[in-house]
Amino acid sequence: MDAIRIIKDEHFAIAAVLHALRFQIRAVKDGAPPDFVLLHAILDYIVSYPDRWHHPKEDKFLFAAVRRRSAEADALIGKLEREHALGYPMIETLKRQLVCYEAGDPGAREAFFATAESYATFEYAHLQTEEEQLLPLAERLLTAEDWAAIDAAFQENDNPLFGIKPKDEAERLYQRILALAPAPIGYAPAGR
Ligand SMILES: [Fe+2]
Ligand SMILES: [Fe+2]
Repeated sequence: MDAIRIIKDEHFAIAAVLHALRFQIRAVKDGAPPDFVLLHAILDYIVSYPDRWHHPKEDKFLFAAVRRRSAEADALIGKLEREHALGYPMIETLKRQLVCYEAGDPGAREAFFATAESYATFEYAHLQTEEEQLLPLAERLLTAEDWAAIDAAFQENDNPLFGIKPKDEAERLYQRILALAPAPIGYAPAGR
C-alpha cells in the first residue's frame, strides 16, 4: 500500500516542521533573536503541503473509503475531519499573528507563541491518532481495489503528466526549514 507509506512519510515531515517551530519558540524564550525567515517558511510549508494536499486527500479518498466499508470508524473519522477543519483557521490566525509579532505590536509575540504551541500539540495528536487508530483500521477493512484508488490519489500529487509537482515546492520549503532550524539541544556538529 503506497498510500500508507506516503502518509507516514508526510507525517514524519510535518512532525519535523512542528518540532522546528517549537524549538524556535523555546530558543526565543531563552533569549535568542527571532528568526522570522524560519517562522514564515514553517507557515508557508504547512499551507502549501499538509493543508492543501495531505489533509484533503485523506478526507476525500482514505476516510471516504473506510466509511464505505464500515460504520465502525464513523466517530473516529468524524473527529479527524473536524480536526482538519479546525487546523486551517489556526494557520490563518498564526499568519496574522506573525505579521503583528514582526511589526512589534504589544503582546503579539506572546499571542503568536500561544497559538503556535497549541497548534503543534493539536497537530501532533492528530497525526498520532491517524497512525495508531485510523491506519490500522483501514488496513483491516479496505480491499486491494480500495487501496489501488487511494494509492493513485496520493501518488497523483506528483504526476508530471498533469504538470502538478506540489511535492517539489514542499520539499524545497522543507529543506529550507531544516537548514534554518537550529540544531536540536545537545547536538553539536562534529569538530566543534
Ligand atoms: Fe489528517
Ligand atoms: Fe495525516
